[in-house]
Amino acid sequence: MITGANKGIGHEVARQLAAKGFHVFVGARNSKAGRKAAEDMAKKSGKATFLEIDVADNDSVTTAAREFSKIEDHLDVLVNNAGIIVDGDDAVLEISDDLFRKTLETNTLGALRVTRAFEPLLRKSKAPRVVDVSSGGGQLTGGADGWAPAYCISKTALNGVTVQLAAALPKFAVNSVCPGWVRTEMGGENASRSVEEGADTIVWLASEAPHDLTGKFLRDRKEIPW
Ligand SMILES: NC(=O)c1ccc[n+]([C@@H]2O[C@H](COP(=O)([O-])OP(=O)(O)OC[C@H]3O[C@@H](n4cnc5c(N)ncnc54)[C@H](OP(=O)(O)O)[C@@H]3O)[C@@H](O)[C@H]2O)c1
Repeated sequence: MITGANKGIGHEVARQLAAKGFHVFVGARNSKAGRKAAEDMAKKSGKATFLEIDVADNDSVTTAAREFSKIEDHLDVLVNNAGIIVDGDDAVLEISDDLFRKTLETNTLGALRVTRAFEPLLRKSKAPRVVDVSSGGGQLTGGADGWAPAYCISKTALNGVTVQLAAALPKFAVNSVCPGWVRTEMGGENASRSVEEGADTIVWLASEAPHDLTGKFLRDRKEIPW
């Protein structure tokens, strides 16, 4: 199950996993876009089902887990991909508490609450995997450059969620990924990577990576510093 799979990196991850034979749940808060993405994917790539989920809304998340369990009895892979950069996220001393809260609500708490809601279904998998789509912007090593501070802090905190989940769920593989700078609505058209390149490490961790690889931060299938 991939959150924010109606477009961008999440959509490409879902497409590639469906092509590998997974029954993919296309998570999206926008039901029209999510349903269309799942239908197109099912025609071209394999088995895909739309799942309505707004990661910023706890009721929506618990309803999504319930709806999922009516269709499948277990979940092998959760990709916490949904993410936002809020307009005005420009300078750390000027951003409002509201902007900061809104960013954390989706990018950090969103991933934690979706994992919490789907954990009983993941636990029924033989080899459960959780992939948190983070960002190099959240790395503490090397220091910040001032770009999008609320977003970057939310990804630093998401990396904290990843290591805490890895400790709490020793039978799971739980990792953070930086997809690189990717040409999507968020990344913009000047970004250096295609969605295929951005999805690569996420799909690898979701399917082929050694299951004892857990609690790490990766880019290009290699561990990077926090
Ligand atoms: N692009 C890059 O260069 C880059 C670099 C590093 C990390 N990332 C990370 O990669 C992930 C995907 O980004 P992207 O570039 O593919 O961005 P994108 O094209 O803007 O797509 C973001 C996706 O997240 C969804 N989303 C946002 N808030 C949501 C919520 N509350 N509930 C459910 N879905 C929600 C969006 O849904 P709507 O269509 O409804 O808005 C959309 O499907 C994000 O976590 C981002 O931080 C991206």
